Amino acid sequence: MTKSIVGIIGGSGVYHLPGLADLHEKSVSTPWGEPSDALRFGKVGATEVVFLPRHGRGHRLSPSGINYRANIYALKEAGVTDLVSVSACGSFKAELNPGLFVLVDQFVDRTFGRQSSFFGNGCVAHVSMAHPVAPRLQERLAAAAAAEGIGYVNGGTYVAMEGPQFSSLAESRAYQAAGFDVIGMTAMPEAKLAREAEISYATVAMVTDFDCWHPEHDDVDVASIIATLQANAGKAERLLARLLQDFPAEHEPCPIGSDRPLDTALITAPEA
Ligand code: ADE
Repeated sequence: MTKSIVGIIGGSGVYHLPGLADLHEKSVSTPWGEPSDALRFGKVGATEVVFLPRHGRGHRLSPSGINYRANIYALKEAGVTDLVSVSACGSFKAELNPGLFVLVDQFVDRTFGRQSSFFGNGCVAHVSMAHPVAPRLQERLAAAAAAEGIGYVNGGTYVAMEGPQFSSLAESRAYQAAGFDVIGMTAMPEAKLAREAEISYATVAMVTDFDCWHPEHDDVDVASIIATLQANAGKAERLLARLLQDFPAEHEPCPIGSDRPLDTALITAPEA
């Protein structure tokens, strides 16, 4: 059994995690640089929790400016075993309305220019990303959403774009034609780094807009994203509170091995 330490990465609109007992903050630095903000430690029942706002307090960091390696390293050092990230996203499906939570299970990485691995020359590893989301964590999120009466969809493909500009109409239509469900700017390389760090990972993608493909909706802009986030902030808080309250203090290893991928990924021979 593994003792659970749950990490929460808050995205746009989620800069705090209310309801943590024994709350204390710690600024840390890592070999990869500074994380987005101080880590906030606390407890919900017997479960230990570590919270990190991805964009920093006051939303100072753009998606391309986030030090994803430092964030994941800091959370790993803090002992996080299970990591839930919350991200705003645009929708490519008419039925995925603003306000809905999509528990995505696949990612397409269209980012570039971000540091997306802890490995490189000297120590080479190729982890599997076939199933990037830890199924038990996704199930727990679904159970928490159901228990709170929050509208959610189980499964979906999130395409991560570089930004910070939104997509053109041609790009939006191309992503839609490719069958992707939602689009955001931050879940990659976070999911890849979590896998390399042997942390089970899942994303709650909160739909805020229809990007720019929908003939009956305005093109996405920041004002509309903020309005939808504000209208739904309470739901995200309730979802996370329920997840943490019901989280077991310890749990079985991940059935797909998201907590031990390096067992089979290292290709560099150990030094003699
Ligand atoms: N985040 C929220 N809405 C988005 C969109 N339409 N495109 C990229 N990132 C987003």
